[in-house]
Amino acid sequence: MTSVGIDAIEIHTGKLKLDLAETFAPEMGDDPEKYTKGLGLHASSFPDAYEDIVTMGANAAHRLLERKGLEPADVGRIDVATESAFDNSKPVSTYIAGCLEQVYDGDFHHANKGERKFACIAGTQSLDDAVNWILAGRNRGRGALVIATDTALYARDSSGEATQGAGAVAMWITEDPDIVELSTEQGYGSADETDFLKPNQQFPSVDGKRSMQVYLARMRESLQDFERATGASHPDDYAFIPFHTPFPGMVRKAAVLGYRHMIRGTDIEEELAADIGRQPRRERFDSDDAFEDAISEYVDGLTDTDAYREWYDAAIQPTLSISSQVGNWYTGSVHLARFSALKHAAENGIDLAGKRLLVASYGSGAQAEIHSETVQDGFTEAVAASTIDEQIEQRYDISFAEYEQVHDRHNHEKSVELEPFTQPDAEFVFDGWGPMNERK
Ligand code: CAA
Repeated sequence: MTSVGIDAIEIHTGKLKLDLAETFAPEMGDDPEKYTKGLGLHASSFPDAYEDIVTMGANAAHRLLERKGLEPADVGRIDVATESAFDNSKPVSTYIAGCLEQVYDGDFHHANKGERKFACIAGTQSLDDAVNWILAGRNRGRGALVIATDTALYARDSSGEATQGAGAVAMWITEDPDIVELSTEQGYGSADETDFLKPNQQFPSVDGKRSMQVYLARMRESLQDFERATGASHPDDYAFIPFHTPFPGMVRKAAVLGYRHMIRGTDIEEELAADIGRQPRRERFDSDDAFEDAISEYVDGLTDTDAYREWYDAAIQPTLSISSQVGNWYTGSVHLARFSALKHAAENGIDLAGKRLLVASYGSGAQAEIHSETVQDGFTEAVAASTIDEQIEQRYDISFAEYEQVHDRHNHEKSVELEPFTQPDAEFVFDGWGPMNERK
């Protein structure tokens, strides 16, 4: 069968940085370690005044096309995944194509464009669409541009405020890819849930604690469904397991669930997870506290073993390093986690070619999806070309008063004036809606 997968990845982070320990925690009256240790987050990225989901996506895509020496004629699809769209009719991919057409002689009139929505899992769904399009033989030698772009902001003083972030991940999907080949076997866990919603509102309505339980319940179902397709998995089958990462602390919990499931089947874990998924839930526990205690006791026992710690440090920890510096990017988050792991391997001379990744995506509302990928020979060079370290380093470190202005502008859909904190450098900038995104 044709090998299809990700041939190149480019990342664009919002150019502002909110330091959670130094800047955010003191204003919230919190111990900084709640963020750095508890949530596992050090900083969040925010968009500067001239950035939005269109410019961040277009800048990542443009860097990718330039690096690969591609022209519009090479691109047969542009798929955008976002949960921050501002237009209920025209897909964000058309705005991004409009930006790109300003810098290329050709146009993208021949390219199929769309926008996927299912919270954070939409990035993986777009990736799937692109892979299926090529596997179906409909691409006529062209590749697909998949762009996950979001401004993940929460209301001020809400529980999610510490987990914000903004950025875009562009992926180039082709036959005989340089980075990873996707397997066609997938597992799903999907249910109608209402713990995280954005019904025509700028900031999500979130039941944070319940959203964590729903994440774990759907993830467990998708792992079981994946195993129905592929047979039982063992943790050592995979070099890395990139999870959707709203914050690294969430992945710590998901990793325990996955590890436990893969090593021993599903006795107490299954009972606990089934309890979480049941409506009304917790029939076997006389209170929320009893339920939380049961989970904590179980997790403490497992995470105290050397075998678990070694596995976690090798297969999970390397997936979290970029997220811990930029926060939640919603649709781009699991793709940052994959990239983070590959970058770790490339920098440490770990030969991953032929090894497998287990990629665990999730979107609120709610659906989890699990599939495996095989790392390709060209991954080291492909990952080494990334500028993400420099981008993270060069962000402007905002004060709390500046953060309030940035947040307020986002809340009022950019009608509030805000002077930029940084200077654009040969990139697309926000200058009004759509076609007015200019490259300066
Ligand atoms: N030192 C060390 N650790 C500390 C600490 C300190 N001083 N203070 C607190 N902690 C720990 C806590 O024990 C806790 O860890 P455990 O969960 O392992 O016990 C952790 O820090 C967080 O503390 P809280 O639970 O008190 O934090 P919170 O209630 O203020 O916020 C949250 C947590 C509710 C998840 C919140 O971040 C939130 O609402 N986030 C948005 C929703 C979200 O991301 N949900 C995740 C699943 S949904 C999803 O994945 C989709 C998506 O992208 C949104």
